[in-house]
Amino acid sequence: MPHRYFSRMAGLCLSVSALMQAADISSPDGGLAHVTETKAERDVRMQWWRSARFGMFIHWGLYSGLAGEWKGVPGGAEWIQKNMELDTEEYAAEAIPLFKPKEGFAEEWAKLAEEAGCRYVVLTSKHHDGFALFNTAASDFNAQRFTGRDLVREYVDAMRRHGLRIGFYHSVIDWHHNDYDYTINPDLCYPKRQRFMLEERGVPRNQPAYKSYLHSQVRELLTNYGKIDIIWWDYSQGAAEGERAWNAPALIEMCRHLQPGIIMNNRLYSYSGLKPDAGKAALDLRKGDFLTPEQRIPAEGYPGVDWEACMTVGDKWGYSRFDTNVKSVETLILKLAECTARGGNLLLNINPTASGEVPEAVAKAMRGVGSWLKICGEAIYGAEPAPELPSLPGVAFATQKEDALYLILSPRRDDGGKNGAPRESGEERRDTVPLQLPASVAGHAHPSVLGMPDYVVSVRSEGDAEIFTLPAAAWDRMNNVPILKLTRKP
Ligand code: GLC
Repeated sequence: MPHRYFSRMAGLCLSVSALMQAADISSPDGGLAHVTETKAERDVRMQWWRSARFGMFIHWGLYSGLAGEWKGVPGGAEWIQKNMELDTEEYAAEAIPLFKPKEGFAEEWAKLAEEAGCRYVVLTSKHHDGFALFNTAASDFNAQRFTGRDLVREYVDAMRRHGLRIGFYHSVIDWHHNDYDYTINPDLCYPKRQRFMLEERGVPRNQPAYKSYLHSQVRELLTNYGKIDIIWWDYSQGAAEGERAWNAPALIEMCRHLQPGIIMNNRLYSYSGLKPDAGKAALDLRKGDFLTPEQRIPAEGYPGVDWEACMTVGDKWGYSRFDTNVKSVETLILKLAECTARGGNLLLNINPTASGEVPEAVAKAMRGVGSWLKICGEAIYGAEPAPELPSLPGVAFATQKEDALYLILSPRRDDGGKNGAPRESGEERRDTVPLQLPASVAGHAHPSVLGMPDYVVSVRSEGDAEIFTLPAAAWDRMNNVPILKLTRKP
């Protein structure tokens, strides 16, 4: 879409930013005065993302080969360099020989994303360890040098072949680059031995030079791979944010100039996505397009604000052989439904091994969500919350679209005995389940069960309520999360 204000302002803003970068000074509003966009322009830009609802996150890098273990000691996953307090040389010496991407890994990811029903994919182009998965002229710490392949290019090509929207996660903090100023905020973690090594060798810190490096890598990513849909920054904390830490206004401006339609998250600025109240304050749209609650879904969403919950299928972002606590398909479906019902997206993370292989349990869970979406997707893609609806017993979440209301039913924990109790011996499994709804809701009428087009839902009135008779088989078929669709009467 055309962004007139970008082209109009780009030249001026870049030169102002360049001046500010040279002097490393801050303007009173953090350099953001120039960023404007009308609501209508923004709505057009955000449209595909808002209706997509479901994306696949991929954490993959040198750490994947360490598989959660440093010389026999468990040490986390993508944070292992920091957790074990390693300097970049010892970390790389151990991890590089283990990082062996197999042929066709990206094609497998793209197929998996498609089977899972994801509409977009976000890959770590560089995580905190500083290792670039792409061919970059800005640093020799990259995949091209050590594997002879541009892994980002393979990823982009595969995703494009499958019609998926393409995103890069890019870490702005860096545990490898000499210029990176780890004192910029003591809360921004930095591996101790890496710091000692730099101090011992008397290597000076130079954040302005680091900022240029960061910008040039982002420029490569947004120039060399065709159309890129998302850039997902990670992360800022306290005063280590924005203009001071990353020259964020100029970085944002450059991204929007190179990729006018791009959508970006809010983590060039401080935001604790882990805290329950994070994001209560309105998002400053000059600082990013959406909020990023991490490993949690905000109880009431953030009405009027775009957001995306990022979550792991297992417990970790990167691969660890100890990470066996894979969530059930039912849990993942409910998380996706909850995000949609609260007005947000879900970015669900997979963690391939060093070869690029997705652990089978993780792949299976993703495919399970996809099978459900094949039938129930109409209640998710392009659907909106149904906030006017009271909370209804038996209904986990509700979404709506055009003239349809989708009641995403609570999973059943019983095995089909009377009134939800376990079956007694000899008792027959009930083949129908009653659902009582207030007449005001039921007034939507034309009830149907997604995936069971031949089943006729019977409805009878009982006082102020209506009792819907649903097939017990719907729970079995729909991974225990069936959907009752009510179409509004014309
Ligand atoms: C955190 C972690 C990181 C992970 C990210 C995903 O900020 O630092 O390892 O990539 O969250 O949201």
